[in-house]
Amino acid sequence: MEKLLIEGNHHLKGEVRISGAKNAVLPIMAAALLVEGETKINRVPDLRDTRTFANLLEILGAKIQFSNNEMLIDASSVDKPIAPYDLVNKMRASFYVLGPLIARFGKAVVSLPGGCAWGPRPVDYHLKGLEKLGAKIELEGGDIIAKAKRLIGNKIRFDFPSVGATGNILMAAVNALGETKIENAAKEPEIVQLCEFLVSMGAKIDGIGTTEIIINGVDELKPQQVSVIPDRIEAGTFLIAGAALGKITLKDTIPEHLSVVIEKLIEVGAEVVIDNNDITVKRGKKINAIDITTAVFPGFATDLQAQWIALMSIAEGSSIVTDTIYNDRFSHVPELNRLGANITVEGNSAIVRGVNELIGAEVRSTDIRASASLVLAGLMAKGTTEVNHIYHIDRGYENIENKFAQLGAKIRRISVDD
Ligand code: UD1
Repeated sequence: MEKLLIEGNHHLKGEVRISGAKNAVLPIMAAALLVEGETKINRVPDLRDTRTFANLLEILGAKIQFSNNEMLIDASSVDKPIAPYDLVNKMRASFYVLGPLIARFGKAVVSLPGGCAWGPRPVDYHLKGLEKLGAKIELEGGDIIAKAKRLIGNKIRFDFPSVGATGNILMAAVNALGETKIENAAKEPEIVQLCEFLVSMGAKIDGIGTTEIIINGVDELKPQQVSVIPDRIEAGTFLIAGAALGKITLKDTIPEHLSVVIEKLIEVGAEVVIDNNDITVKRGKKINAIDITTAVFPGFATDLQAQWIALMSIAEGSSIVTDTIYNDRFSHVPELNRLGANITVEGNSAIVRGVNELIGAEVRSTDIRASASLVLAGLMAKGTTEVNHIYHIDRGYENIENKFAQLGAKIRRISVDD
């Protein structure tokens, strides 16, 4: 097992290059299943999750090459549309293979993901959507078995603009017969990129980036090449670090994907300068306590909620951080309190009373973004913080300790006996 050792309270200064987005590359990798031939993906972050997903595609029969952030996926030899529990359980995004598999093979067996650290996380919209397209869905031994000779376009309305369900239905509908209309669709940048990638493969999609997406099924798709958009969550994490600890320039971002975070950081008192694709953030004289409520894009991302709480824990005054996407996503709170933060949870809100300083301690990360918040808090805290169970952070952050070390942080990874 590995842990991160952080000696906190050091000024951060310098530049950091933002990696490709985990939440964009995973559905793109799934979309490679739609075609025979070689899909080439550039700027693939080298993460546990991208490797797990590659592993899943190999189990399905695909051939993968991955080096220097470039991935080649040849799905010509995919012959086993079965995604087993041990992989789906490790990473819920595995469920993305359901849509493309049924679209290409007329059958898919994908294990039903269980709950996760922050609640039930259902997949009913994905399944109801596929049923609307004519798929027959059964649950057997914990597996979803989906079958359809050919999917037939239909109107699907989600009760909530789910990112995962929008992605899955998009991939299922690209070669369905006729028109599929998704109402109340997600319009996150990662969904926009998936749509654009599918269009480059030959799909017919209108309304990209809006809440109403119309897909006209085509008979043929061809493999394509794509470069993954920058990770707005990694970028947001470094922006928050800069606002707390010094002056950081983020290279290779898309600032429009971060407008709400930037707005909030300015309210906090940080200085933010945007220069094309670079963003520089500098800590202000003080850190004001600012409330946030998570929302769908372009609102404040649920994936930055934990990191925001870390920043607010040293703010002047109290703030309320509410998560409307996942009501129970606060497993980082007791760990932050071990570092001396003063946070209580009421319903789907965290009440954060700013303290003068955090003090290093041993903490345990519970999911990807919770770990990021603990790293941020460790960097802010006096003394040494040990972050355990860091395989979570490796799922979603490429080289996190090196990136922070280059900015002047005293952070290193050590191996410990299990
Ligand atoms: C969500 C985030 C995404 C983030 C990811 C991982 C949003 C809108 N989505 O995506 O940005 O990267 O977590 O942290 O912020 N729901 C159902 N039934 C379904 C699917 C979803 O009830 O079949 C509900 C969920 O419980 C949740 C909401 O809809 O309350 C949003 O779900 P969705 O966007 O699909 O979640 P993820 O894809 O996990």
